[in-house]
Amino acid sequence: MKKVIVITGGSSGIGLAIAQQLVEKGYLIYSLSREKPSDDRLKFIACNVAERDSVYFALTTVIDEVGKIDGIINSAGIGISGAVEREPAEDIERILDVNLLGTINVCACALPFLRETKGFIINISSIAADFPLPFQALYTATKAGVKEFSLALRNEMRPLGVRVSCLMPGDVKTNFTKNRTKAEPEHDEIYGERNKRSVMRMEQDETNGMSAHEIAAATCKVIEKKNMPATFTVGAKYKLFRFLKRIVPESLFLKILYNMYAK
Ligand SMILES: NC(=O)c1ccc[n+]([C@@H]2O[C@H](COP(=O)([O-])OP(=O)(O)OC[C@H]3O[C@@H](n4cnc5c(N)ncnc54)[C@H](OP(=O)(O)O)[C@@H]3O)[C@@H](O)[C@H]2O)c1
Repeated sequence: MKKVIVITGGSSGIGLAIAQQLVEKGYLIYSLSREKPSDDRLKFIACNVAERDSVYFALTTVIDEVGKIDGIINSAGIGISGAVEREPAEDIERILDVNLLGTINVCACALPFLRETKGFIINISSIAADFPLPFQALYTATKAGVKEFSLALRNEMRPLGVRVSCLMPGDVKTNFTKNRTKAEPEHDEIYGERNKRSVMRMEQDETNGMSAHEIAAATCKVIEKKNMPATFTVGAKYKLFRFLKRIVPESLFLKILYNMYAK
């Protein structure tokens, strides 16, 4: 029987690209998202990852239909930007619910099934987890949470045969940029200009970023490895950034980020 992989956020961007490449390699793919993916080769179960019941229902439906889950890829995610004190409380809750709680919900509900198959989890964090971006503090916090959660879970599951890995993409050209919720009140004399400059710079990088297909190809290679890395990124530039982060003193590192994204 085909290997069964469940991808959250398989309706768009990175999740859709991974789903399509895996289908072409002969995997059976379920997308858990709110919208149906445009590609009919993907099985679809409507799911809001922020709601535990919705996730539980979706995963047990997969088990009822095909009897097993060999892998989970958590790609569902949203972005927000703005000064922390300008972010509406409901936007803060929403991003924590989707990006962090959503990832936790899916992992927690899937683990009993993954223990059966000795399967794997790939959680999609972001390079922002290593490069805390001003005016994206909430997004950064969720993605750092996803990374550390994944590392802790990796060791928790090690003796039980479930492999856990965390993908930390850099800038990728997807709908993510246009879907970002922005807290940019009019006439903000304190943060307005710095916020706009920072977000504009970051969004330029995203629109000139890598294709979701490149990210998907690298992810497919990791899936087929026996020993998955604890974390991985794609592209020489981002690998170099992560290396430099490890060797540069923290105060200097933060000053560089300040000059790039907060002046
Ligand atoms: N693009 C980048 O530059 C970049 C860089 C680093 C990391 N990432 C991360 O990569 C992941 C994928 O992003 P992307 O660039 O592919 O963005 P995207 O094209 O906007 O896709 C986001 C996906 O998340 C799903 N989603 C959002 N809220 C959901 C919810 N409550 N329940 C279930 N699914 C939900 C969306 O599906 P529905 O709307 O159908 O629900 C969609 O399929 C995200 O976690 C993002 O943080 C992106």
